[in-house]
Amino acid sequence: MDARRPSGMSGRNLISIDDLSLAEIERLFVKAREIGEDLHSWASICPGTILATLFYESSTRTRLSFESAMLRLGGGVITAADMGVSSASKGESLADTVRVVSSSYADILVLRHSSEGAARLAAQVSNVPVINGGDGSHEHPTQTLCDLYSLWIERGRIQGLDVVLAGDLRYSRTIHSFVYALARFGANIISVPQPGFELPEYVVKRLREEFGVEPMRANAGALGQLAAESDVLYLTPHKPHQLSLFTDARGWDVERVDAVYMTRPQTERYPAGSDLTRPYPQLGKHTMAHESLRDALVMHPLPRRDEISSDIDADPRSIYFKQAARGVPLRMALLAAFLGRLDVLDAEPPAVPALHPIALGASPCPNPHCITITEPRHVAPLFKLASRYPWRVYCGFCSHEIHFEWVGCSTTRIYHNPDSPTARRLREDHLVFLRDEAHARALGFQPASRGSHQPKAGA
Ligand code: NCD
Repeated sequence: MDARRPSGMSGRNLISIDDLSLAEIERLFVKAREIGEDLHSWASICPGTILATLFYESSTRTRLSFESAMLRLGGGVITAADMGVSSASKGESLADTVRVVSSSYADILVLRHSSEGAARLAAQVSNVPVINGGDGSHEHPTQTLCDLYSLWIERGRIQGLDVVLAGDLRYSRTIHSFVYALARFGANIISVPQPGFELPEYVVKRLREEFGVEPMRANAGALGQLAAESDVLYLTPHKPHQLSLFTDARGWDVERVDAVYMTRPQTERYPAGSDLTRPYPQLGKHTMAHESLRDALVMHPLPRRDEISSDIDADPRSIYFKQAARGVPLRMALLAAFLGRLDVLDAEPPAVPALHPIALGASPCPNPHCITITEPRHVAPLFKLASRYPWRVYCGFCSHEIHFEWVGCSTTRIYHNPDSPTARRLREDHLVFLRDEAHARALGFQPASRGSHQPKAGA
């Protein structure tokens, strides 16, 4: 029996790039390539189907390519491109807006929002599939599909490629989705951040603990000016013992790279008072003349500012405008798949860790930009347990790590040292994360018997 769903609604959402399996992504690419051969012959795929684009943040490519994709599939589009003129300006919550738009207005939704985890909330309350068009600095899975698709078209594979990620790696959501996908496909990442804008700790932890990626120092002299000011890391999903053959005391030697993915400074997300004078990696004719970059594709999700000089726009290695153009066939394949009109998705989504409610009053998400903090009246916070050895607990909305010193059980109302055998055995959906003892007692928890009543090592 075919495990895929050829028709009807897919019942799927695309909130994180983890929501698609590698096989599904490759099937999407095959379909996008077929669609791209003649964009005009697909108008019978989704007639009478309506896409709603809800954009609470500015956009050119993501919104217009989704809308173009839906129109080319024969469907229609309704858009709230400027939420400043929608009921959001009257104080309507995101959840209520999504409930309404997904009732009878549209068959599929694309949402962009400044709060991290906004798309997850939308998916909880929506009656139709939700696609994340970018949630704050968190994720941008469809841009990652376009980026991977371009690599796949240009190089014929993703596994084993060496990809430089340069610029603002801290706040760039395209980077975060991209690194998870590159790791899953078995590509290597060379991180060349603007100083102070390295990959966030929670992203590196996920890469390490969920994808087996080991970051190691890299000697990036071969990249010349591009990496002159950065602390360069090589992040590889391959086993460290295999790498020890190729490294010396200075770390991995960067020699030839397959692609340089540049991002702009995400200044709209910087905290007030940020230092904007730190040197930013730049790409231009001079840098691209280095031997190590001889065959490197130049990629950028766009919009760019000054980080890629226009003097390489005509260089055949520069594919950023092709990347944007390929967004249309790719998003056509994606929309049709999520509407159940193309045989691309498996019957079951890939397994991801379960989400559980964070008990009332327990340690909340520490990220001020998380939707659980920005719309607290409308969201029930969730956690995801990634591991108990060591303990790693993440916010189910924005993926930031939740910190705590004690673990309680919601049924016995007893709190434990997280490293105790009892805490290790507590049922996942009974876990309550407690900042300190005062916090535990304030919530009505009693200490466990002696022995298991010690603070978490290293907490
Ligand atoms: C990106 C975004 O919005 O995150 N743009 C896009 O979707 N192509 C990148 C950016 O704004 O820098």
